[in-house]
Amino acid sequence: MKIAVVGGGGREHAIIKKLRENKEIEKIYALPGNGGIAADAECVDIAATDLNEIVRFAKENTVDFAVVAPDDPLVLGAVDALEAAGVPCFGPEKKAAIIEGSKVFSKNLMKKYGIPTARYEVFTDSAAALDYLERAKMPAVIKADGLALGKGVIIAQDHDEASAAVRTIMEDRKFGDSGSQVVVEEFLTGPEVSVLSFTDGKTVVPMVSSMDHKRARDNDEGLNTGGMGTIAPNPYYTAEIAERCMREIFLPTIEAMNAEGRSFKGCLYFGLMLTPEGPKVIEYNCRFGDPETQVVLPLLKSDLLTVMRACREGTLAETPVEFSGGAACCVVMASDGYPERYEKGYEISVDVGIDADVFVAGAKLEGGRLLTNGGRVLGVTATAADLPVAVSKAYEQVEKVRFGNAYYRHDIGQRALAALK
Ligand code: AMP
Ligand code: GLY
Repeated sequence: MKIAVVGGGGREHAIIKKLRENKEIEKIYALPGNGGIAADAECVDIAATDLNEIVRFAKENTVDFAVVAPDDPLVLGAVDALEAAGVPCFGPEKKAAIIEGSKVFSKNLMKKYGIPTARYEVFTDSAAALDYLERAKMPAVIKADGLALGKGVIIAQDHDEASAAVRTIMEDRKFGDSGSQVVVEEFLTGPEVSVLSFTDGKTVVPMVSSMDHKRARDNDEGLNTGGMGTIAPNPYYTAEIAERCMREIFLPTIEAMNAEGRSFKGCLYFGLMLTPEGPKVIEYNCRFGDPETQVVLPLLKSDLLTVMRACREGTLAETPVEFSGGAACCVVMASDGYPERYEKGYEISVDVGIDADVFVAGAKLEGGRLLTNGGRVLGVTATAADLPVAVSKAYEQVEKVRFGNAYYRHDIGQRALAALK
């Protein structure tokens, strides 16, 4: 069997490594993959957003199943295009991917169906948004409507920052057309939890919960990044909260999408905040989170391809999805300076016998050497019976990976460990 995985980051590497445990899979193509993924899949130089080329490649190479992992091809309709060409896929159709592609859509969906989320207003012109924000309570949260590489959310501490945010998004169009509308949201507080779930549009099976660390520096200081590390499970997410989320958020979301004629199949990511009033949705993603996937999938015991097929075929209720009872910690190693300016092109070396998964995000192969080629270079994931051991093991194993200009946070998992006590 031949599989194509669309995408080329740490998340895709984690998906590919998990798929490789299935011995019926003879070949995995990564489109485009990266220099590190090349150790586990055949990388093909086709951009993840080049839908025509992706479809052509999948047909020419008689791909049996495709996994579309990143948000942009999903929102562009990669699954629709592949399915129309006869290639079975894991991932939502375009009309369902809008749950991530438009914050205005997702906020209105939650309001219409009574799913708990922050109170909000939508603005299509900047004058009205500026006027509203002059009277709004601070801090306020300002979000560009469309995809913005995870950077379209600004938490304004005062009225000046709020107006600057509206100008950046709506007038300067820093995020392009994503900023033609903004959502202004009430500022919520509480621990954040990421819950990735498998769904076939009827049944929803949450995966083990996780916690991202988005800020660049220790103690949650520095700029927002794509994620500097993750742990799973998230200790704040108790069985009682999980049960409440299923009842108040997960099932109502699946049913709401069905009622709108936008049945969601694939991985639906719930970004939650556990507020004093209960769990609320901060954001939906139409895909596996990154770097959450780098701690969640190593804990999956069931065959990933079987579960992915069940999501597509509508048989998830009859398909076992089991996780090990253990824990995982992923420390992201980045190029110092990320998410702003950084140097790249340094050779990466990994000690033989490293007791961790190394999921590569930003690297290229040159003359047989693996060189850094991005801000986030790789994730080192250790698994263990419990979280304290997983965290200390991840930091021991990080020492076995070396490259020039390497930087990582030293406190991944510390907040979770404090919560355990
Ligand atoms: P998002 O890209 O929607 O995940 O937002 C990025 C980050 O901004 C989230 O992980 C939260 O930490 C924060 N955030 C987003 N919305 C809110 C809100 N309404 N209140 C407080 N923090 C928020
Ligand atoms: N780690 C957050 C995301 O994947 O959007």
